Amino acid sequence: MIRKAVIPAAGLGTRFLPATKSMPKEMLPIIDKPIIQFVVEEAIASGIEDIIIITGRGKRAIEDYFDTSPELETHLLQNGKYELLREVKDISSLADIHYIRQKEPKGLGDAVLKAEKHVGDEPFAVLLGDDIIKADIPCIKQLMNLFEKYSKPMIAVEKVPKEKVSSYGIIKGREIEKSVYFVDDIIEKPPLEEAPSNIGTVGRYVFTPEIFDCITETPPGKGNEIQLTDAIRILIEEEDVYGYAFEGKRYDAGDKIGYVKAIVDFALERDDLKEEVARYIKR
Ligand code: G1P
Repeated sequence: MIRKAVIPAAGLGTRFLPATKSMPKEMLPIIDKPIIQFVVEEAIASGIEDIIIITGRGKRAIEDYFDTSPELETHLLQNGKYELLREVKDISSLADIHYIRQKEPKGLGDAVLKAEKHVGDEPFAVLLGDDIIKADIPCIKQLMNLFEKYSKPMIAVEKVPKEKVSSYGIIKGREIEKSVYFVDDIIEKPPLEEAPSNIGTVGRYVFTPEIFDCITETPPGKGNEIQLTDAIRILIEEEDVYGYAFEGKRYDAGDKIGYVKAIVDFALERDDLKEEVARYIKR
């Protein structure tokens, strides 16, 4: 049973500068909901009760966001804005959220390692804040279901366009049942010529605690950072790892085009916005 999720949110957000100079990229909104809330809600909808967010300097806004906000709540109450009040209160009671700080931005692998003590000796989920995934069954739940069957680490994967291969962890895998790959190798952001496939890893993983030892052994890799992908590469020497081509639509909200697409698609699904937005786009 997977009860805990780690959400790394310590990255510097350089792709969204200057906006992210003084605000966490995870707080960028898709219309009126910050990206990180989609990820937290996905974990909760998958039955996860305990969420560990890895933060860093300049990320206080995330903690404030999931905390209560007495002044705001009083203001909304006094002004009769009950609907908004309910929404604001709901956010602070979403889940049991814990925060751990990564003192230096030493990479995704290092960020996950910070959760070791809190996770302890049980399997856990990792959800990256840049990926927003719309799916009937939450993407991480799909991986958790498969974990029940295989009891081995699971990585969400998706075919990516050739020109994007060098932006992803790429697997070399064999499809052993529909949409399930046995991972023979994994490489972080290879140049297209060196990529073993165009099957990219997406920001959803289920790990067993063994990954922590592998991260500890991982030397700095791409960008001089401790890469989670490199740690998985060590892990597959000892243990089977599977990739799963999940069902759903993924938005790379950490990329400008992906972010704009997410905003447009979400607007077109909202009753309060869709007609006017559709009309505007057509025009
Ligand atoms: C990270 C990982 C990469 C993975 C990607 C998925 O990269 O390092 O392996 O494919 O997330 O979104 P980032 O996008 O943070 O550069």
